[in-house]
Amino acid sequence: MNTVRVDVDLGPRSYPVLIGSELLPGLGNLLREHGLHQTQAFVITNAAVGALYFERVEASLREAGFLRVVRHDIPASEEGKNWEEFSGSCAALLEAFPETGSVPLVLLLGGGVVGDLGGFVAGVFRRGVPFVQLPTTLLSAVDSSVGGKVAVNFGGVKNIMGIFNQPRLVVCDLSTLATLSGRELRSGMAEVVKYGGVCSGSLFEQLEGDHGRGALENMLALDPPTLTDIVAQCVRLKAGVVAQDEFDKKGIRNVLNFGHTIGHALELSADYALAHGEAIAIGMMAATRLALSLGLCEPSFLSRLESLLRRAALPLSHPDHPGLFERVLRAMQMDKKFKDGKNLFVLPTGVGAWQQVQNVPWDLVHAAVRSVLRADTGDR
Ligand SMILES: NC(=O)c1ccc[n+]([C@@H]2O[C@H](COP(=O)([O-])OP(=O)(O)OC[C@H]3O[C@@H](n4cnc5c(N)ncnc54)[C@H](O)[C@@H]3O)[C@@H](O)[C@H]2O)c1
Ligand SMILES: [Zn+2]
Repeated sequence: MNTVRVDVDLGPRSYPVLIGSELLPGLGNLLREHGLHQTQAFVITNAAVGALYFERVEASLREAGFLRVVRHDIPASEEGKNWEEFSGSCAALLEAFPETGSVPLVLLLGGGVVGDLGGFVAGVFRRGVPFVQLPTTLLSAVDSSVGGKVAVNFGGVKNIMGIFNQPRLVVCDLSTLATLSGRELRSGMAEVVKYGGVCSGSLFEQLEGDHGRGALENMLALDPPTLTDIVAQCVRLKAGVVAQDEFDKKGIRNVLNFGHTIGHALELSADYALAHGEAIAIGMMAATRLALSLGLCEPSFLSRLESLLRRAALPLSHPDHPGLFERVLRAMQMDKKFKDGKNLFVLPTGVGAWQQVQNVPWDLVHAAVRSVLRADTGDR
C-alpha cells in the first residue's frame, strides 16, 4: 500500500501529513527523512496505547540513532485532558530533560486527548520544542492531529486553555485502528461525515455509496485502501481550511465546527458519558434542524445525514435528564464563536455547503436542543 502525503501549507510552519499502513515500524527513518535529527525523544501516550505501540516506536527510534527515549503516560480519557495532567506532563518533561542545551523531540502517540494535551506541553516547554503527531484513532487521524489547535479543558469549559502550535510532521499509521474499539471508530466517523456534510458533496456521496452501502461501511470494516483514501480526503479538506485561516480569525475555520456548538455543550453537560464524535453526531442533527427551521436547507439533507449517522451506529439524540437542557444552554454560552451575547451557528445549506448565522432566535435554538433530548424510550 502506498503512503499518501498531504501538505499543510502554512509558510514557515508548513508540514507534511503521511497517511498509510504499517508506518510506525519505520518511524525513526521517516523523522530523519523529514529533517528531524534529534537524538532524544519524549513520548506522551497513555497506558493502553503505550502497551500496544510504544515498543515498536521506541525500537524504530533507536534504530535511527535516538540515544534516549522517555515515555510519559497520561490518563486514557477526556477527564484526563486537564490542567493537572498538563502540569504533570510539563514536570515530567523538565525532570527528564533538565539541561537547557538538550532539546528533545516530543512525540504524541494516541488519540485527540494525547495530541491536544501533548501539543500544548510541547508549545510551552522552553517556549516551544518540536513535536510530531502520531494519531491512533480515526478522529485524531482525520481531525485533531492536523491544524495546530492544542488545549486542555479547564473550569468546566472544553479546550479553554491552549495555544496554536503546529507539529513538524504527522505520521498517521492506519494499521493502529485495528485495535481501536468499535465505539471509538464510529466516533471518528462522525467527523468524517461532518467533512462530507459541509465541506465536500462528493465525499458525502462516496460515503453513501449505492443501495445503502458505501465507503462508510468499508471504513468501518477497516478496508485499507478506503481508509487511506477517505482519511487523505479529510486531511486535505482540513489542511485547505486551516491554510486560509490558521489562527481562526477570519471565520473560515468555523466550518469545522458544524455540530460542535450544541455537541460540545452536550458533551460537557453529559459528564463525558458521550465520546466526542457521538456528541458531534447529535450536535449535527440539532444544527441541521436549526437550519431547517430557518429555511436554509432542504429536509432531504436531514434525512441523508440521519441515514449516514444511523449506518455508523451513531446516536441521533440523548436521553433527557432533569436539568440537562439548562446545563446544555449554559455550556453553550461559553462557545467561543458567541460574541457580545450574540450566538453564532455553523449551519448546512445543502450537501457540502454551509453558512454561518449570527443571532439565531433563541426559541429556535431551544427547539433544536430539545429535539435531540428524548424521554428515554430506548429509541435513538
Ligand atoms: N485539536 C483539534 O483540532 C481537535 C479536533 C477534534 C477533536 N479534538 C479533541 O480530540 C479529543 C477526542 O479524541 P479521540 O476521539 O481520539 O479520543 P481519545 O484520545 O480519548 O481516545 C479514545 C480512546 O481510544 C483509546 N485508543 C486510542 N488509540 C487506540 C488504538 N489504536 N487502539 C486501542 N485503543 C486506542 C484511548 O486510549 C482512549 O481510551 C477530544 O478531546 C476533542 O476535543 C481536537
Ligand atoms: Zn470534533
